[in-house]
Amino acid sequence: MKALIINGPNLNMLGKRNQTHYGSLTLSELNELIKKTYPSIDFEFVQSNSESVLIDLLQTNDNYDFMLMNPGAFAHYSIALRDAFEIVTKPKGICHLSDIRLREEFRHIDLFEALADVYVKGLKEQSYLQAIEMLTKKI
Ligand code: DQA
Repeated sequence: MKALIINGPNLNMLGKRNQTHYGSLTLSELNELIKKTYPSIDFEFVQSNSESVLIDLLQTNDNYDFMLMNPGAFAHYSIALRDAFEIVTKPKGICHLSDIRLREEFRHIDLFEALADVYVKGLKEQSYLQAIEMLTKKI
């Protein structure tokens, strides 16, 4: 089983970001935890701060059984990335480390939520693990 895990802007800075919201793991520690928890899944990890790179990735890479994305702040305003996500036909999930509904009002809207087969937020790194667990059952 193959899975694509996508992290959007500023998630490369995990470990240096607000730990109350995002936990203490760096992105590579998070990716290691994911691999260790699901050793039988062949993961590809991509992080980009660029909206166009993420759109191109969603349009061109379908070499996976399911995909999970944390769109970062793009969740709140990128209609273009949402449109690219909508085209994805494989099982697809959205996750957030923090609970965006308990934070500033500008984070309350998640443009991707209605399109996601699986949606998990607010559990820090467990958001990814729980979403992956649920996605494996959607295949
Ligand atoms: C985030 C929440 C977003 O509001 C924020 O801009 C992020 C991270 C999360 O994982 O909690 O960069 O997606």
